[in-house]
Order: sequence, then C-alpha cells, then structure tokens
Amino acid sequence: MKAAHRLLKEDGAIWVIGTYHNIYRVGKLLQDIGFWIINEIIWEKNNPMPNFRGVRFTNAHETLIWAKKSEGGKYTINYHAMKPFNDGKQMRSVWNLPICKGKERIRVDGERVHSTQKPMALLYRAILSSTNPGDVILDPFFGTGTTGAAAKILHRKWIGIEQDKYYIPIAKKRIDQIQPEEYTIQAFDIKDKKRLAPRVPFPHLLEYGLIKPGQSLYFNQNPKQTAVVKPNGNLLYNGFEGSIHQTAKHILKGKPGNGWLHWFFADKKGEFLSIDILREIIRNDLNEPTE
Ligand SMILES: C[S@@+](CC[C@H](N)C(=O)[O-])C[C@H]1O[C@@H](n2cnc3c(N)ncnc32)[C@H](O)[C@@H]1O
Repeated sequence: MKAAHRLLKEDGAIWVIGTYHNIYRVGKLLQDIGFWIINEIIWEKNNPMPNFRGVRFTNAHETLIWAKKSEGGKYTINYHAMKPFNDGKQMRSVWNLPICKGKERIRVDGERVHSTQKPMALLYRAILSSTNPGDVILDPFFGTGTTGAAAKILHRKWIGIEQDKYYIPIAKKRIDQIQPEEYTIQAFDIKDKKRLAPRVPFPHLLEYGLIKPGQSLYFNQNPKQTAVVKPNGNLLYNGFEGSIHQTAKHILKGKPGNGWLHWFFADKKGEFLSIDILREIIRNDLNEPTE
C-alpha cells in the first residue's frame, strides 16, 4: 500500500491511485476488507514520461479506484453536474489529463520538490464529483498538499498526513496562499437540480404502493373537489377522466395546470399533503446509486 495515494471521505468513500506496481494488490486488499468498488478510473497522461531504456511500453496511465466501505449504503456522486467536463455528455472512466508540469510544479532553487506531485486537475475532478462543500477529506499521503489545495478552492475541509517532514511547510505554504472565492450556496452548490431529476409518471405512485387504486385526491386541498384514482393512474372527476394534468386543466376550465402541484391526498390524520411529496420519494429511490 505504501506508494498508493489515498483520499478518504467521511461517508466512507475512498479514492486510491497507483500504477501497475501496486494497484492490483491495493485493489485486492480493499476488497478483502469488504470495500465495494464504485469505479475504476484510468488517468490517461497526455504527456507521460518516456520509457528511456526502451524495454517496455511507455507507461502512460495511472489507475484510480473509487470505492466505498461496503456494498450497501449511500455515497456522493455529482453525476449530472460533472457532464460539462465531457462536453455535456456522461462522464466516462478514462480521464485524459496532463501530468503536473510548468508553473503548477512546485520547485525550490529550480529543483522539483516532489517527484510525484499530482496535477490539480485530477484532484479537483475527484473531489468535485464525489464530495459536497463542507465535507471532510482525509489524505494520508499528503506530499505537496494537492488534495488540500483543491479542497480549499472548492470549500471542502481537509486533513493531511505526511511522513516526510520536508514536505509539510511546503504544502502548508502552498495552501495558505490559496484564497478561495467567498462561499455562497448559489455559487458552489452543484448538486443535481430538480429539473435533472428522473421523470416519474403519476402511475408509478400506484406501482410503488404510495397511492392506492380507488383512493381519493383533492384539488387544491378542497374536499368538495374530489377525484378518484383509477388503477391506471387516471383520475375520475365528476364523470371526466384523464391524467392528473388533464383533470387539473378540466377543473381550471381549459387553463393548463401542473397536476403535481394541484392534487393532494389525505394522510392517516386526514391532513392534506401534496402528491409531489410522493414523487420525491420515488426520485430519491431512483437516485440511490446502484451497482
Ligand atoms: C504519491 S505522493 C503524494 C503526492 C501528493 N498527492 C502531491 O500531489 O504532492 C505520496 C506521499 O506519501 C508519503 N507517504 C508514504 N508513506 C507514508 C506513510 N506511511 N505515512 C504518511 N505519509 C506517507 C510520501 O512521503 C509521499 O510524499
């Protein structure tokens, strides 16, 4: 495990990076202690170090393992929000990024400080995709503190551990110099928005047992405007039959109405609750990551 670089988030998700020298052993050990692999990411280096002796192929990638403590349970993935990194398309498991070079590479007296300083882009991407502002990230192989630097810019908290005392003031100075933009939820929250939420047709509420066939729904909480739910999800209102939207439009005398916002059900205590709450329950269930 020595050369592998780990980044552990408090919900138990973990990122590990390594090369063929160690990554297979690290993966095996992780699985042996019950970790569940969410993704294997290939960091494809577009400017790898050449193989000087010319005895094997140039090693042009490193492997990241993103795993969580056990098979069940939640973990953070900002799935939709990461699409801009791939021209609006689903993010893939091969990340083409340059190795750390140029101004980004920390030097003292012209000499590179750390032979394996990671590029900011790699940590930025891992942190942004799998954590939210305020989350705590532990990097027990801190080196020059790239994890801390990316975490600070993104308003995450971080804990770094490093065995080589030489790197500690260098990492500290680097992170101290970073002045993130002021945090506001509007600017930094990238959680999947409602408009990106999965579409849930009303009949799904019946399939999920959240609404029963024959149950009554109330238009704008008005007990005098009651509809009955048919087994196929249509509503029957005073002889008119249609979807939640069509019946709302019918009651509104032709004015379009969003049925999700107009129809209410009565809970066990007789209080009116919006059917939209039930849609959210299904959405949360659908959003629950599955393997
Ligand atoms: C791959 S480097 C990390 C580079 C870092 N991500 C960066 O961008 O600068 C791994 C670091 O882990 C440190 N390290 C190795 N074994 C360690 C241990 N058992 N405890 C703490 N640090 C350790 C090494 O000194 C080295 O700086």
